This record gives sequence, structure tokens and C-alpha cells, in this order.
Amino acid sequence: MSDAIEAQASLEGMLKDEILRMYQEVADNPSGEFHFFHGREAAEAFEYQQEWLDRAPPGAVASFAGVGNPHLRADIQEGETVLDLGSGAGLDAIIASWNAGPSGKVIGIDFNPAMCVKAKSQAAEAGEAMECHEGRMEDIPVESESVDVVISNGVINLSFRKRRVFEEIHRILKPGGRMSITDIVSGKQLSQSIVNDPKLWAS
Ligand SMILES: C[S@@+](CC[C@H](N)C(=O)[O-])C[C@H]1O[C@@H](n2cnc3c(N)ncnc32)[C@H](O)[C@@H]1O
Repeated sequence: MSDAIEAQASLEGMLKDEILRMYQEVADNPSGEFHFFHGREAAEAFEYQQEWLDRAPPGAVASFAGVGNPHLRADIQEGETVLDLGSGAGLDAIIASWNAGPSGKVIGIDFNPAMCVKAKSQAAEAGEAMECHEGRMEDIPVESESVDVVISNGVINLSFRKRRVFEEIHRILKPGGRMSITDIVSGKQLSQSIVNDPKLWAS
């Protein structure tokens, strides 16, 4: 392995550990101190409907860690299959279930198994059925051409292999399917000191 590949693999491993630690903490202890917006305050700032936030289980709202509102453009219809990439504690998946209705289906994907456990229990508390598959966004554990809408909130920026993530989204979408993604992008090349800091990248 070349030095550069070895360095990237080691950074990727550290980043994974930091992502697991940080978002697990938001799921387990949402009232703790975080240096990023989260919970109801963040969801309100991103124009989530008050009615949704009142109706969803408080645990799903408190552990919300998104960076925007993918529902503003997702236009989910009754009966559609929706996939929430990096579903976290489950707020977006629960809202998607309300929109897709009983004839639709919502699938969460998260590489942290504890997040899938939390999302499914929050969805059950909301009276909604939700599948959640443990897996990576770079290798989505879902059949090709099986999804109408992909939503994702604050997740793809965490990947080292973003092109691969979009190839995977393209693979799983049905022909004519769509995606609604809210995420962080930078118009400037980030400095090496930021790129090499797993804490900054993870948040
Ligand atoms: C910033 S949180 C956002 C969670 C959720 N979308 C929300 O809005 O609350 C990022 C989530 O993506 C998951 N995640 C990070 N990297 C991932 C990867 N490579 N594959 C799948 N999930 C990943 C984390 O475990 C975490 O639940």
C-alpha cells in the first residue's frame, strides 16, 4: 500500500469512529452540549412543520441532527417507496411514512446499528412501520431500481467516496425516480488541517 493510500485508510478509520461516537451521543444524550445545531430548535429553523414536530415522538425530534429539510422538495406521494440514507434517530423517516401512507414503504439505512434500533423504536412509537438496514451509503444494501425517492439529511458530506454514493443512489432508484438531499457543501477547497481533523469532518 502506498503511503498516501495508507494515510487515507487510517483517516477514514478515525473518521468512522468519530462519526459513530458523535451521533451516538446525540441519540443517547440529546440535551448535552454540541457545537452544531440539533433537535427541535434546528428542525424549526429548517421549516419543519410544527404539526410534524408536535406529532413525532419527542426522542426522534430531540435527536434530529440534519442540516436542512429534504421534505421541502421530496414531494412524497401515497404508495411510494422512500429510502432515507443515513436515517439517524428517524425523524425524517417518520415524516416520510406519514406522506407515503400505509400503501407506501420507508427504508432507513445507517452504518450504526444502534441508530437503526433507535429509529425503528421511534417509528413504532409513532405507530409507523419502518425497515432499517444496517449498511454503508457507499454500498447500499437495497436492490437495484427498487426505490421511488431517496431522501438524505446531513450524511453524504461524511463520506470519503461521494461519487460512489451518487452511483449507488442512481442504481437503487427506479427509472424516473428522484432524490431530495440536504447537505453541506463548500465552495472553497478546505484546508488540509480541516480535512485531516476527524472531529471537524464528522461534525
Ligand atoms: C449528521 S447524522 C444525520 C442523521 C439524520 N439524517 C438526521 O437528519 O437526523 C449522520 C448519520 O449518518 C450515519 N452515517 C454516517 N456515515 C455513514 C455511512 N458511510 N453509511 C451509512 N450511514 C452513515 C451516521 O451514523 C448518522 O446516523
